[in-house]
Amino acid sequence: MTTSAAPQQQPSATSATQDFIPLLDSLGPVRWSPLIVGEDQSQKFTQIIDSLRRPPSPDGTSKRLASGSSYWGVESTMAWMQACNDPYYPVMREGIDSFRSRYATLARALSDTPYHYFSLGPGTGEKDNAVLRHLARIRPAYAVRYVPVDISSEMLRQGLKAALKDMRIPVRDTLPLQLDFSTVTNLTGLRQVADQLAADTPVLYSLLGNTLANFDNDATLLTNMASILLRPQDRFLLEVAVADRIDQAAADTAAAEYRNSVGFYNFVTSAIMHYTDLQIVPESVEFHGEVEDGKALNLRIVYRNETGQTLRPLLPNRTTFDFPHNDTICLLTTRKYLPSSLDKLIADAGLRILQSREVLHPGEDVTGERLETGQKLLLLARSPNGARSPGQSQVTGLNPFRRD
Ligand SMILES: C[S@@+](CC[C@H](N)C(=O)[O-])C[C@H]1O[C@@H](n2cnc3c(N)ncnc32)[C@H](O)[C@@H]1O
Repeated sequence: MTTSAAPQQQPSATSATQDFIPLLDSLGPVRWSPLIVGEDQSQKFTQIIDSLRRPPSPDGTSKRLASGSSYWGVESTMAWMQACNDPYYPVMREGIDSFRSRYATLARALSDTPYHYFSLGPGTGEKDNAVLRHLARIRPAYAVRYVPVDISSEMLRQGLKAALKDMRIPVRDTLPLQLDFSTVTNLTGLRQVADQLAADTPVLYSLLGNTLANFDNDATLLTNMASILLRPQDRFLLEVAVADRIDQAAADTAAAEYRNSVGFYNFVTSAIMHYTDLQIVPESVEFHGEVEDGKALNLRIVYRNETGQTLRPLLPNRTTFDFPHNDTICLLTTRKYLPSSLDKLIADAGLRILQSREVLHPGEDVTGERLETGQKLLLLARSPNGARSPGQSQVTGLNPFRRD
């Protein structure tokens, strides 16, 4: 007896979509949230382990936690959320509270074009709520797609609640992506997502809350974002911390601002406590303020081994690393930019400023001299001439997450 094999029926894309969309539509956005994981977590572990195995240095320039790893796990996410509510770390809280009105000034420059919104590092999600509300008002019947991108899946989950609060954006129009946006490969992947989701519709990208300042190689990161992500019709919302003076007294003052906050201390030590079994002693967490090339006040938060002996902390893969006396681990880097140097950073990255709003608060530095610090929010577009910085021709292969 012969049997003829019946042609196998292939599941069509349409039927999968037909199943998937009603499922998403039936989910409540707070209890259920979709998540696309674009990051191989095991590689991140290897990077963290490698960076803690670096040679000793007394000034926080060798062993380190890269920017993304400071926010990665559940503990770090919760510590970040608490730091944002610490009255002794007012920079973050004030930045979140005043965002809506600062953004409103810039939003006029977005005219009445509909945008999709890609938020790079949404954090608590409150700022994204302000942006989404505005974008949804531009064209009420228009479906804004919201794509928050973060290294921390827990941050995406927590941030989504605040971002979508009192909004009528269905789950199917939100696509949280767990991804490290500091690598060229991931930015290229993100651009593909934007091309698929947005087609010709303009995309508004944002990098808010001084996130740029956490990257050692901030100029390369901005250049990569501008050249890989931005099409002529897209816009980029950038928010950074600024200071009107760049000198050692101003740097020491900025360092003192972070030192006073228990919430910030808990956040900045959470990752090292998660990845190692080091017994963290508060007195060994140091806040160093420096002047960086006349461009910014650079703050380096380091953990120093002051025990008088070589420690051998345990790593997640059950191996140890040598942490000799007086060696340091850099826990976080941040900056306050001089506004004129910021303009150069932006131009060198191939971006032009469409609108900006700077808010400076008068104060005093540690010597009693006048010092103004605050935030600058900028709406940027790709400049027709492209990037001016030397990094542009070498975009492939550069990875600001690594410090090599
Ligand atoms: C300083 S917080 C800013 C949060 C928010 N944008 C705000 O203004 O309140 C930095 C955010 O970027 C995320 N982040 C940091 N480095 C990242 C990386 N390399 N890739 C993806 N997300 C990253 C953090 O998890 C966090 O949500």
